[in-house]
Amino acid sequence: MHQQHALLRQSFGRNFQWGVAISAGQNEGAWNVDGRGPSIWDQFARKQGKIKGSAKPYHSCDFYYRYKDDLMLVKAMGFTSFRFSISWSRILPEGTGRINKEGIAFYNRVIDECLQLGLTPFVTLYHWDLPLALHKEGGWTSHQMLKWFSRFVNVCTESFGDRVKNWIVLNEPMGFTSLGYMIGKHAPGKTGLSNFLPAVHNAVLCQAEGGRLIRAAVPRANIGTSFSCSEVHPFTQREEDIKAARRADILLNRLFIEPLLGRGYPQEPGFTLLDKLHLHNKAWKYTDRMQFNFDFIGVQNYFSTTVKYNPLIPYIQASEVKAATRKVPHTDMGWEVNADSFYRMIKRFWLYGGVKEIMVTESGAFYKDQLVNGIINDTKRIAYFEQYLSALLRAKKEGVNVGGYFAWTLTDNFEWAEGYHARFGLVHVDFNTQLRTIKQSGYWFRDFLHDKI
Ligand code: BGC
Repeated sequence: MHQQHALLRQSFGRNFQWGVAISAGQNEGAWNVDGRGPSIWDQFARKQGKIKGSAKPYHSCDFYYRYKDDLMLVKAMGFTSFRFSISWSRILPEGTGRINKEGIAFYNRVIDECLQLGLTPFVTLYHWDLPLALHKEGGWTSHQMLKWFSRFVNVCTESFGDRVKNWIVLNEPMGFTSLGYMIGKHAPGKTGLSNFLPAVHNAVLCQAEGGRLIRAAVPRANIGTSFSCSEVHPFTQREEDIKAARRADILLNRLFIEPLLGRGYPQEPGFTLLDKLHLHNKAWKYTDRMQFNFDFIGVQNYFSTTVKYNPLIPYIQASEVKAATRKVPHTDMGWEVNADSFYRMIKRFWLYGGVKEIMVTESGAFYKDQLVNGIINDTKRIAYFEQYLSALLRAKKEGVNVGGYFAWTLTDNFEWAEGYHARFGLVHVDFNTQLRTIKQSGYWFRDFLHDKI
């Protein structure tokens, strides 16, 4: 076993970045202290029935106060990079205008602590926690988003750019635009194409503009942005299922990266959602600004998916056939475990051409952990990491320039609409006492990363 690990680890090479990722809205807590303004998630959590167990993100796992201990854990597990996001409303409580110095000071403390411990900070600018004040002005659906976002980026680069060189502009734009502006399962709970399409376009503009602004402000910056992705399979080989899978594939895998690479939005005959997007696009401003030459693309893959034709679902006319129904391996989130599909998605992003480097900026799994005599023996999570890392190595060996892997996530945290029951951490958190317990998967990484190469 040990030898196998050493070999796996060695094969990734010395310069490979090993990291762990968190996000502000899921980890920090301290929602109303030191001048932080409210975010869309603070408000969304107050609405009945939106979040499992009526959970609130207000305290979460208290990273705001416990960052030193948590960074020690990152270090102890052997990681060398740490990805975290900036809470926009902590540094600009109204989203724009006045800067909150205490917010800036907090991130300075986190960054300095990382550097002192020898951890390379990777900063995500936007990981889904929009200031509520901006939402009241239309948020991601507003044309003003580009202006607001630019100011936020500039404040971040001016404040942290002397020490932070690695930047991720957006976290999974498909995630927050679809869940937050089409389906309404996530904050701010908006639905329908009239919200979704402008949100998509503004996110596409902001991701490229964010890259440009960082390039202009930060010398020697390494700039990326992250995408969710999911290999899509038709349920049967019937033509209607195959077409449904194509539509889902466009939304899940192509909508955000193709305009970035200069290909414009995808086209598909008969897919009216895209027709509308193209129609709007003509009227929208700045479409020439959708492109940017990123240093790396962040890939995040949690599941592959199988869909069938379903005329009842507006526009996409497809619905998912769940992994449990198909009796294939899945996590306790119900997400299909399929490391081969992860390998294929990595290759697919690479084969676009124009992608210089791929970083896996999140990868992980929720399994129901059992704390027995102070030990969490999360063997399924360990098996998950083993399979996914082997698949990644396969892609790397076949010539994909993969530069790093970030496990999701450090500690159990606020898992958005799932509240606190869905635990993805390498470290277990007792949310009553804030006691941390390293899971066996955390020790697995420690052994894996401490092997000398
Ligand atoms: C998001 C994380 C989330 C994870 C697991 C990713 O899509 O970036 O914030 O916790 O998925 O659901």
